[in-house]
Amino acid sequence: MKREKFSSSLAVFLATLGSAIGLGNIWRFPYIIGMNGGGAFLFVYLICVLIVGIPVMISEFFIGRKTRLNPVLAFEKLGGKKWRIVGYMGILASLLIMFFYSAVAGWVYSYTFKSLIGKFNGVTLESSRDIFINMITSPKDVILWQLTALLVVAIILMMGVKGGIERATKLLMPVLFILILICDIRALTLENSYEGIKFLFAVDFSKLKSSSILTSLGLSFFKLSLGVGTMITYASYFTDDNDLMSTSLNVALSDTLISLLAGLAIFPTVFAFKMEPSYGPGLLFITIPLIFSKLPFGNVLLFMFFLLTSIAATTAMLSLVEVSVAYLIEVKKIDRRKSVLITTIFIVLFGSLAALSVEGNVLSNVKLLGRTIFDIFDYLSSNILLPLGGILISVFVGYFARSEEVFLEMSKGNGNKNIIYIKGVLFVLKFITPILILVIFVRGLF
Ligand code: PFF
Repeated sequence: MKREKFSSSLAVFLATLGSAIGLGNIWRFPYIIGMNGGGAFLFVYLICVLIVGIPVMISEFFIGRKTRLNPVLAFEKLGGKKWRIVGYMGILASLLIMFFYSAVAGWVYSYTFKSLIGKFNGVTLESSRDIFINMITSPKDVILWQLTALLVVAIILMMGVKGGIERATKLLMPVLFILILICDIRALTLENSYEGIKFLFAVDFSKLKSSSILTSLGLSFFKLSLGVGTMITYASYFTDDNDLMSTSLNVALSDTLISLLAGLAIFPTVFAFKMEPSYGPGLLFITIPLIFSKLPFGNVLLFMFFLLTSIAATTAMLSLVEVSVAYLIEVKKIDRRKSVLITTIFIVLFGSLAALSVEGNVLSNVKLLGRTIFDIFDYLSSNILLPLGGILISVFVGYFARSEEVFLEMSKGNGNKNIIYIKGVLFVLKFITPILILVIFVRGLF
């Protein structure tokens, strides 16, 4: 069977960025910053991206492109049978993420529709809050929209790597960027917007919580789609001459930029409307309709904003589902369409439990260790499997992979210009990244 590939370096960049940019930037990043005290948390987050995120991303790129296989077979090929477990952990993590991620993507899809039919005309803080609560507590609504989101993902994935993933991400990414800029301009010209900027950028370490460091590590992995095998899977479709070092740097920087732009759209508005920045997961859904209600042609812009957030969520989901699909195609020898179908049905079964377990919905009383089903899926993936995957991936590339191979793969596309950086990355991978993740991880657990 001939393996598909992306067609150019631009396609590689946009697809990878499509995986990184998603609800994490527009929904999760702002509310987590809001709940963890703003600038100080941002500072810790940036350090995590730099010394943990980028090296792990390069490692995943190496594993994927070197082997051109799905994560399970890729680890086996480079390290032997016992390393397959890391690939399986990735598949598990990607599915756990999909269970709750598709629920939130459903909310975004629902908001896109609601804004199209003018549901937010003349919205106030109270009515905006009511619309959100009514939506997340209605079993019919959440399931219907979650299914819609999953259907879109399935259709694109059935069209393949080039015809589906590449085409969708090339179309979406530039438009998303322009729309976020428009939102920023509006938010920053609101009265009191300065308060929001101060909240986002002023560094006050006393505001950090004891759990903030683990949270920011988990967030940086989640944001950059790491520790799950997604980047291994995508890199297995990279072009041969793509420079892995610069792709990882560009993706990490662009992703952080988009997160900051989303924060700059949201926090000034939060302060202008005298809301609490620590509002939690509802932050995006309650504030954004308010921002747009203040704009000329606000309805149209609101629709476009949610449409693009839906598409961002969709491109991220493509990469999450593709991990299992690539596995089923290559290991179980099932054709692409059937693989997509099987994975999607599995996600619908567990994902609907997550959607129905949100505060106020029918399964919100089902709790395990004090957490709802939604939170369990989130906690297990973001706080446990992702960091654990990160440790194993960096240890694998730092100690077990053959360093000539690592050098060769990483210097493709840049001659030998990057030798010194490659040495730096390998040093960090060996002596800093895994130890740092381990310390933060263990401290967070206890
Ligand atoms: N990076 C995506 C986001 O920020 O929304 C989420 C994600 C995609 C996490 C792919 C993990 C992953 F493997």
